[in-house]
Amino acid sequence: MPRYAHIIGWGKYVPPHIVTNDDLAKQMDTTDAWIRERTGIVQRHVASEKESTATMAIHAARAAIETANISPMEIDLVIVATATPEYLFPATACLVQSAIGAERAGAFDLEAGCSGFVYALVTAAGMIRSGLHDTILVIGAETLSRIIDWSDRATAVLFGDGAGAVIVRASERSGGVMASLLGADGSGGDLLILPAGGARHPAGPETVLSKMHYARMNGREVYRFATRVMVEATQNVVKRAGWSLGQIDLFIPHQANVRIIESAAKTLRLSSERFFVNLQDYGNTSAASIPIALCEAVEANRVNPGDRLVLVGFGAGLTWAACAIEWTASKPGVPPLSRRVFAGRLRYIVAGLKALGWRLQRRADATVSQVVEQKEE
Ligand code: UT7
Repeated sequence: MPRYAHIIGWGKYVPPHIVTNDDLAKQMDTTDAWIRERTGIVQRHVASEKESTATMAIHAARAAIETANISPMEIDLVIVATATPEYLFPATACLVQSAIGAERAGAFDLEAGCSGFVYALVTAAGMIRSGLHDTILVIGAETLSRIIDWSDRATAVLFGDGAGAVIVRASERSGGVMASLLGADGSGGDLLILPAGGARHPAGPETVLSKMHYARMNGREVYRFATRVMVEATQNVVKRAGWSLGQIDLFIPHQANVRIIESAAKTLRLSSERFFVNLQDYGNTSAASIPIALCEAVEANRVNPGDRLVLVGFGAGLTWAACAIEWTASKPGVPPLSRRVFAGRLRYIVAGLKALGWRLQRRADATVSQVVEQKEE
């Protein structure tokens, strides 16, 4: 029997702190009018000191687990798509795996810039369709505010923080991720880059002084690339699914700039109303933008069972990715029962205590073997 990969749960988290265009205009040479006209962005959410990629990913993951109505023990794999991981290592996915108590799951991060979530979703769907795994948690999460030069108006006005997650599950019922496409052109890697902190330019006083730990972007070139690949990737993935553009109920593109989305809609001869846009509220949240948009589209009843969707992303790498989805999940009719929510919370508290217990046990084991070694000497 063929296997299909269905999205059965979804969730998002954005930090409560909002920074408006007017707030930015008070601290740099920009205006609300410029940002709105050139990007469509009105505000963005920015993480507090206590928030980070892992904490936001955990919130989004818990929300997706609740919508899917599953236990974290059913999850086989956690994939976190991010360009702003908690650390270079361990993977942010491992922190999520431990915090949600997904004890049976493997975990890894995936870096494909703003295309990361679609790359991760396609990876998950492939693993499910091949029979390798049954249930996969896919997250896109970013704390871009930590890699932005807040004195550079060319980048500071564009980005925001947040996380979105989905649960993908195997089924013999037709539907779910029906076609996909992944692309890359590494020759354009320098167009959108975080130069320092990796093996090429390890962190040091020099790299800090020259602001190499901040994202750098050639906006015009990325814009030209984005308008081209969005059109090509959309056309190709629809063709691979055996559908026509006219049959797509909703396009959910990466939320970078409303002008990019409108340009793609125009070239494809489609009404821009068929493209979901929420970047006015969040700015560009990179790998988190498509899952956050998907959650909002479902919540707003723009996505219903039987609908055909196209998710399409582009970004650093350069990379692009698209997938065609036949949506099969119904929105949970009633909010999760308080008993369920309580049981979920209890489970996460137990998961936290277990992780702490294992850490303490590792420390105790290390101390004991140190003492034994000293005695033997
Ligand atoms: O998610 C990953 C991919 N990233 C993207 O998709 C971003 C793609 N690029 C873009 O969205 C656009 O290129 C930007 C929004 C970044 C810039 O818009 P643009 O229309 O390409 O502007 P520009 O860079 O050509 O700059 C036009 C003018 C310049 O002034 P001059 O040289 O014409 O005097 C800039 O200095 O706007 C100026 N400018 C600003 N003015 C006010 C640039 N940033 C700002 C600003 N406020 N924040």
